[in-house]
Order: sequence, then C-alpha cells, then structure tokens
Amino acid sequence: MPATAYPAPRTSGTGSSRLGRAALLAAGSLVATGTATLAWSALAEPRLFALRRIDLPVLPPGAWPIRVLHLSDLHIVPGQRRKSGWVSSLADLRPDLVVNTGDTLSHLKAVPAAVAAFGELLDTPGAFVFGNNDFYAPVPKSPHRYFLRAPTIVRGTPLPWQDLRAVQVERGWLDLSNGKDTITVRGQKIALAGVDDPYTRRDRYDKIAGPADPDAVVRIGVTHAPEPRVLDQFAADGYDVLLAGHTHGGQIRLPGVGALVTNCGIDRSRARGLSRWGAHAWLNVSAGLGSSPYMPVRLCCRPEASLITLRPREDPDTSVGVTSSAAVASRAPRGNGRPAPRQTTSTARPA
Ligand SMILES: [Fe+2]
Repeated sequence: MPATAYPAPRTSGTGSSRLGRAALLAAGSLVATGTATLAWSALAEPRLFALRRIDLPVLPPGAWPIRVLHLSDLHIVPGQRRKSGWVSSLADLRPDLVVNTGDTLSHLKAVPAAVAAFGELLDTPGAFVFGNNDFYAPVPKSPHRYFLRAPTIVRGTPLPWQDLRAVQVERGWLDLSNGKDTITVRGQKIALAGVDDPYTRRDRYDKIAGPADPDAVVRIGVTHAPEPRVLDQFAADGYDVLLAGHTHGGQIRLPGVGALVTNCGIDRSRARGLSRWGAHAWLNVSAGLGSSPYMPVRLCCRPEASLITLRPREDPDTSVGVTSSAAVASRAPRGNGRPAPRQTTSTARPA
C-alpha cells in the first residue's frame, strides 16, 4: 500500500524569510553601488578633464576682452600622459594670459613632466605662485585629516620647486610669490599681485600691500590657498579678480550638498568656481587638475581648468556666466581659438 502523499512542509515564503531575502538583496545592491561609485571615482572621473568657461564684465568700457587661462593643482608625476596632453592642448585656446595657482608637482622628478604639460602655454605671457605641495613630496594621510580645522602639516621629501620656478621664469612667466608686477596684453596694462602659499604660512601680504594700480585695466590677485585673511586684503586694496586653487573643489562632492571640506578657511560653498568676495572682487577657485597620489579620487568634481574672459562692462553680454564643458577634453580646435560656447548660466553668489 502506497504511503499517503503528504505535502512537503514549506520551508520558504514565510514573512521572516521574505524579509531576509529583501535585506540580502538591499545589502547586495548597496555593495554593488558602492563598488561602482568607488571604481568611477578612482578610475574614471579623475581622468575626465573639463574646461570651465567664465565671462566677467570687469574691464573699463571700450577695452579689448582678455582671456585668462587659470591652471591649478596639476599634482603631476612622471608618466601622466593623458593629463599632460590635455593641459598642453589648452594652448589651442590661444589665451592672452596663463595663471598657475600652484601645487604643480607631486614627485621628485616631476619638473620635466610639468614642462611637457605646459608645452606651448609657456610661450604665452603667464604668472604663477607655489602651493604647499610644490615644496614637499606627498605623504600618505588619513582622510579624516581633511576634516580637521587646523591639521598638522606633514612634510615629505623636499621637491625641486626652485627648478620649476627657474623654468617658468626663463620662459617669461612672473613669479608672484609675495610680489607684484604689471604685464601688457593687447596694449592694455594688467596689474598682478600674489602671495606665497598661505596654507604653510609663507604668505607675506605686507610685501605687496597698498592700493592696486589704478591705471591698469584690471587688477588680479593670485594665491594658492584661498584663505580669507589673504582674500580680504586683496579686496581691500582694490583687486578685481582673485584666483586660487588648493581646495580641489572638495574632490568628493555629494549631490545637493556639494563639497564636504575645503582644506582651508574658506566656506564650502566657495570650494569651486566663481563667487563674489566682498562688494567689488570676484573670486575663482579652481577645482584643479590633479590630486595627491595617496588620495586619487574625485566624485562629482571633475578635474578642470578655467578660461576666464574678462570683458568690458558695457559689453552686451555683460551677465556673469559660467559654463563647465568637456568640449576640449580631447583636443581643443586650432584656428581662431574661440570654440563655440555652450549654454551659459549665471552662478554668481552674493558674498
Ligand atoms: Fe593641491
């Protein structure tokens, strides 16, 4: 006689097991999303170079527009061919002036790599200051240090910043480390002043203090770290445009939140891009082109250079505008050096 066929006891489908499966699935997707984000921020985004275009109506009526290419934080090491190629291709934009706000080096033998990256840009009038990472090789740091208000500065092997200085000066770029000068572009005088790196307290504003040249068409203040104590003095002395780097734009930005840290005294909302500083000056903080080899990640914060077109105040396109564009991510076009701009949106923020 056949045994009675009883239905097998159910071992699945109860409320608690369904919950377990859902939790497993959620954990799985979380791990997958985390891994994908980590891979993107470490392998992809640091290589997606972008050009930030800014129009600033700061020149006197009737002046010729002046195109300033703002480079910062290359953190270059030998062998970074993609970065080097992208930076040198910016010469195709035919800027009138190049300003390098420091942290160019990240390796003992990086000077030739930096020279290769600048390429034909060294034939353009230029100016520079140094950043904290130009003086000493990077060292591994715990990420928590970026959240400290005044972290102890850890120094690695001294870097050949004097060689970097020599090559830039030989090619005609002005060293603005605690110095000021003027430069003539398209027959128009530009006043330039800068401080040595404020992050490592090398800034000596007292050496350049005083009203900015009133005869210049524009007055540009340059610093590596956008420390408020320095920016305030530039603004008080009448500088129109302030250029800085150092923050790397926060390097990791969260949607709806922005930068988590600035690594200096400036507020998080100004970690990248254009903002007002005081009633008169404009501040551009570059998110930079590289990062420490020990923190090689970027999230929602592409490496960038800025092309700032200074325009006369009566120009019909006088609205301040910013466009971030990857249009020159491969090769900027030769020719008239005026790639078609993309849509321009206002990002001006009150001080
Ligand atoms: Fe930097």
